[in-house]
Amino acid sequence: MSTAAVFDNNKSWANAIKKSNPDFFNNLAKGQDPDFLFIGCADSRVPAAQVMGLGPGDVFVHRNVANLVDHTDTNIQAVIEYAVAHLGVRHIVVCGHSGCGGVKASLTHTDLGVLNPWIRVIKDVYYAHKAELDALEGEARVARLIELNVMAQCLNVAKTTSVQAATREGKAPQIHGWVFHLETGLLQDLEVDIASEQQAMADIFGVTA
Ligand code: CO
Repeated sequence: MSTAAVFDNNKSWANAIKKSNPDFFNNLAKGQDPDFLFIGCADSRVPAAQVMGLGPGDVFVHRNVANLVDHTDTNIQAVIEYAVAHLGVRHIVVCGHSGCGGVKASLTHTDLGVLNPWIRVIKDVYYAHKAELDALEGEARVARLIELNVMAQCLNVAKTTSVQAATREGKAPQIHGWVFHLETGLLQDLEVDIASEQQAMADIFGVTA
C-alpha cells in the first residue's frame, strides 16, 4: 500500500465521520477523558480501540513487543503515570494475543540482537512457571505462556509507583488481563486477581507476599 492511498483513506474516513457527526472533530480537539489505558502488543493485528469497539478519545494506548510492563522502561512508566495521575483512567488493561511472536521467541535460544534483553522479561515469567510450562507442548505451551505473561505484567502494573500512589488515595484503577484471539476476533478476560497473583508468586519464590 502507498502513502498516497493512506492519505486518500484518511480523507474518506474524516469525511464519513463528519457526515454522521458534524461536531465530532471539534469535540475531539477540546480534550480527552478516556476510561481505559490499554497496554498491548505492537503486533499489527491488535488495534486497541478497534477490537474494543471504541474510537478516538476512548482509549489511552501503549503498545510494545509482547505487552511488557518493565520497571526499568521509563516509556511505559510515563504512560502509566500520565494515564493514572493526570487522566484518571478507571481501567488499566494488559492485553496479550494468540500467536504472539515475542512470546514464541522467548521460548527459543535464538540470538535476536537488541531484542534479547527485552524478551528476557518473558523468559523470567517462563522460569517462574517452568514446571507447568514444561508439562505442555507446542502451541499449548505458547498459549499458556501468553496468559502467564499477561498476569505477570498485570502484577507489574499494580506495583508501579503511579498505581500505588493512586491506591493510597483511594483512586486505584481496576487492573485487567485480557487475551485477544486472532482466530475469532474475540477478547478473553483472564479475570486476574492481583492479590492471589501476588500470593502465587510469593509461593513460587518461597517468600512472604
Ligand atoms: Co505479540
